[in-house]
Parts: sequence; structure tokens; C-alpha cells
Amino acid sequence: MIGREFMNIAHRGASAYAPENTFAAFDKALALGASHVEFDLHFSSDRHVVIIHDETLERTTNGTGAVADTTLAELQSLDAGSWFSPEFAGERVPTFGAMLERYKGRFHFHVEIKSDAPGLSQRAADLVRGYGVGDSATITSFNLSSLEEVTAYAPELPAGFLSVDITDWTVEQAQHLGLKLLCPHSMSLTPELVDRLHSSGFEVRAWGASDETLMRRAVDAGVDGLTVNFPDILAEYLASR
Ligand code: G3P
Ligand code: CA
Repeated sequence: MIGREFMNIAHRGASAYAPENTFAAFDKALALGASHVEFDLHFSSDRHVVIIHDETLERTTNGTGAVADTTLAELQSLDAGSWFSPEFAGERVPTFGAMLERYKGRFHFHVEIKSDAPGLSQRAADLVRGYGVGDSATITSFNLSSLEEVTAYAPELPAGFLSVDITDWTVEQAQHLGLKLLCPHSMSLTPELVDRLHSSGFEVRAWGASDETLMRRAVDAGVDGLTVNFPDILAEYLASR
């Protein structure tokens, strides 16, 4: 690890216990002691920045169609909790601004630019700056174009490249953009890969640890941080080592 505490990151909030990317999941992450949270951004049709994972509404709300074709007012009328459990009926699709307002000072925000819509990274950076949380936010994306946009517009914000595998191309692109963070899938991790990336000056934050075996594999490979749906179980494992 490079000089700081392991980043135990609640993935879409504590999404093993509450509906992903809702205040219920973010509140649960805090209740479990998490100080890092990850979530996903899209534009609504009227260009508000909203927190939801999929491009479409069907899996995690009672709505239908594309997020990008839906206004903020329509999105906020949807139920984003019942799909998970009836006790979460009435959970809403949050805006990024509401999230920052509610949790500023309580989380480090791992902001994934999920959609590659031009302008989304800039708007996300504007909100981070506007809420004064630049020292507790990290921008990540699988989209090279989103990373190009944010590094040009807000070079002061740390940014990381999400990728299933870390190839020579991934490293070259990250170096070209001046990124200090690479985010491989847990399945692709080896201690040798993590060592090599550390030696090249990168922090390594893994994702995709969908079960405890992958979680332990990632931690044991030497990563600096990990997104998990169950930050309590990761905390127990980290304490046991
Ligand atoms: O932490 C990165 C991870 O969230 C990427 O995958 O599909 O859960 O957004 P996904
Ligand atoms: Ca994500």
C-alpha cells in the first residue's frame, strides 16, 4: 500500500443490504463504518446529474426506458427501492448534488462517470468543486473520453482508469493523462501485477469482488483499495490479517 489506509469502498453504497445507489444504501454504508463510497453517474434528459448504474430504468426502478430519455422530475417520481425489498419502497434516484449535500464530510466519494455523454465529467467536476469536496473525491471511468474530459477540465481532481485487465495500452493511456490510479477487476489481479503497477507509480484500486474469495484474493494481492457490496465483511478481513 502506498502510504495511506486501505480504501474499503462501499460499492453503490452497502449494496448487499440495501438498494444500490440510494440514500438507504449510502446510509447503511455509514452505519457499517465505511468512510469510502462508490456510485455511478448519468445525465437525465434535462441534463441533471443523477446516480444510477444502468443506462435503463427497468432493473433498479419501477420505470421503463433510458435514463437519458427521462427528465429529473420523472426519475424522482420512481421507486428505486422496492425491487430490492418492500421495506425500501419509496427510495429515490438521487441527484449527485443531493448526495454531496447530504454526505459532505462523511465520505470520500468515488465517482464513476458511467455514461460517456460529453459534458458529464465536467458537470461532475463542477459539482465536486461547488460543494468543496475536491480533497475527498476521486473520479473514475471505463470511458477514456470521460477521463480525457475530466483531466483537461479539472486536473486537480484525482482520477482512475477502470478496466477489466490492465494492459500495456491501459498503462500508456493512464500515463499520458497523468493518472495515478488504476482500477482492475479482482479476477485479473496477481501480486506481480500489483507490484509492477506500484513500481510504475500507480495506486491500485480493484473492483468486481462479488464474493469473499475474490475479496480476499484482491486484498492478498496487495491492492490499495477495493469496492465491495459488503464493507463490514471486508473490514473484518482486514482486521484479521
Ligand atoms: O468500482 C468500479 C465498479 O463499480 C465498476 O463496475 O459495473 O459496478 O459500475 P460497476
Ligand atoms: Ca460503478
